[in-house]
Amino acid sequence: MSRPPGPNPFIPTSHHGTIVFADNLQVLKQIPDNAIDLIYIDPPFNTGKVQKRIQIKTTRCAEGDRIGFQGSRYRTTVIGTKSFADFFDDYLAFLEPRLVEAHRVLAPHGSLYFHIDYREVHYCKVLLDSIFGRSCFLNEIIWAYDYGGRPRNKWPAKHDNILFYAKEPGKHIFNVEDIERIPYMAPGLVGPEKAARGKLPTDTWWHTIVPTNSSERTGYPTQKPLGILRRIIQASSRPGGGGA
Ligand SMILES: C[S@@+](CC[C@H](N)C(=O)[O-])C[C@H]1O[C@@H](n2cnc3c(N)ncnc32)[C@H](O)[C@@H]1O
Repeated sequence: MSRPPGPNPFIPTSHHGTIVFADNLQVLKQIPDNAIDLIYIDPPFNTGKVQKRIQIKTTRCAEGDRIGFQGSRYRTTVIGTKSFADFFDDYLAFLEPRLVEAHRVLAPHGSLYFHIDYREVHYCKVLLDSIFGRSCFLNEIIWAYDYGGRPRNKWPAKHDNILFYAKEPGKHIFNVEDIERIPYMAPGLVGPEKAARGKLPTDTWWHTIVPTNSSERTGYPTQKPLGILRRIIQASSRPGGGGA
């Protein structure tokens, strides 16, 4: 893809965040080789549905369509809809060129975190192994939460999978001392000093989904919690480094 002359709008010139609203394949193609320290990708999961969230506002009104606290009536107004199509005839054909580009732009010390769920994780692992090499796979992080319905005919699926790859294991950034520590499950077993310091998180991350009444909530369907991203950034980036 050709681009008009002048500074490349896709390459930030300062350390402030730049948000680009575009097809990520076209954006990735404009980034030089080996330029990025950390990539986090949260692609559509191929759930076979349209992911949609309708945002509403309620106003107290005697003729309102909803009944709330102590029987008061509220009128509902739709203030916006946020959605994206989450179905693909050939999901891996959509992902592959983007992951090939992601690998190309990563620096030798760079890492990729690829966020997905149980439906496609195995196929994505095989695809990523073929692009990065199996020896570059470092972890499958399980983000476990506990929210939503529980089917009666199988184990309720309450986790996402985050595949963590290094471009060149051994050279990759991993700031183990900067990772926020978490409480021990049985602090009494480890002694007061260790208990006060907390333990390093493992590859299983218990973290709530973004609560509906939280200030963090954007109203976007499939929004991921800041706590998950904070941990990734603490571990695998450096101040002023390039991320995507
Ligand atoms: C799972 S959602 C990401 C949610 C986001 N991480 C959050 O916390 O709100 C997947 C997103 O990928 C976007 N998407 C789909 N195809 C894309 C493409 N070719 N380039 C860039 N984004 C794309 C969708 O519009 C959707 O917003």
